[in-house]
Amino acid sequence: MNNCLLTTAASLATPARLVEPGPWIGHIPFAFWLLEQARPQRSLVELGTHSGNSYFAFCQGVLENGLTTRCYAIDTWEGDHQSKSYGEEVYQSVTSYNNQHYGNFSSLLRMRFDEALPLIPDRSIDLLHIDGLHTYEAARHDFESFRQKLSDSAIVLFHDTAVREKDFGVWRLWEELSAQLPHLNFTHSSGLGVLFVGKSQAPSLEPLLEMLQSRQGRDLVMQYFERLGQVVELKWQNAKLAQRLQRRERHIEEVRRSFSWRLTGPLRIAGRQLGRLLPSWTSGKVVASPLFRD
Ligand SMILES: C[S@@+](CC[C@H](N)C(=O)[O-])C[C@H]1O[C@@H](n2cnc3c(N)ncnc32)[C@H](O)[C@@H]1O
Repeated sequence: MNNCLLTTAASLATPARLVEPGPWIGHIPFAFWLLEQARPQRSLVELGTHSGNSYFAFCQGVLENGLTTRCYAIDTWEGDHQSKSYGEEVYQSVTSYNNQHYGNFSSLLRMRFDEALPLIPDRSIDLLHIDGLHTYEAARHDFESFRQKLSDSAIVLFHDTAVREKDFGVWRLWEELSAQLPHLNFTHSSGLGVLFVGKSQAPSLEPLLEMLQSRQGRDLVMQYFERLGQVVELKWQNAKLAQRLQRRERHIEEVRRSFSWRLTGPLRIAGRQLGRLLPSWTSGKVVASPLFRD
């Protein structure tokens, strides 16, 4: 078994941009690796971009691997009943980041998925990521309507294959589709199904497809990318925690410097002195209130 095929520089790369919401973040190492290996020639299309964690990971992969892939992100940027509606600032932020970093090969199509169909040529998509509404009916519709757009080396990714709550139904679609085609299904980070739809997959993917044929090989691929995903997620959680601490420290500093804090200084000093005196007057049970501490 050729284990070295997994441990590439791309799989270990650091994501340039991570934002809320974070359920996709754990799949970024695999996304980087897949782009490096599959090297999509024509286009990459994402159905459902929201704040851009998955999409900008794909764009970063395209850029860092020197690929010529044309990238399209399709979304109304209004949200749906599962992702909940969100504000206009999300689209503004995605647009400005896209223009700044990937504007020469990436376009944002702000419309419903069906409205974008006439804009995408048939048999042109090498990599399709389906991450819109996750009901069975919606995910099936998205897959079926974009099927004719897939190239003969196409790979389709489905997010949320592991979510079985409420009306999520990608898992059911996944069970049906994966029975017919070569595939891989990550169970971490809400699940990511990887379906090798095109009949002529890139020769560079042959070792992976071979590995997936044995239970041992499949488990190794899943474990490897799950662990890398955990590292990326943990780093992100740490960074968020550090930011929160910094904000809290800044806030405390601002309070200390504020006019009212300085004005009430004598009161706090008096309170401390009172706190020291009181225990000797009573049975020693009285403790100075935290309000009077500096
Ligand atoms: C789960 S979020 C996408 C998450 C994103 N891929 C990430 O990495 O965080 C789903 C997005 O799909 C969009 N959406 C759902 N159904 C849609 C449709 N039919 N047409 C356009 N956008 C749609 C929503 O606006 C929402 O932003």
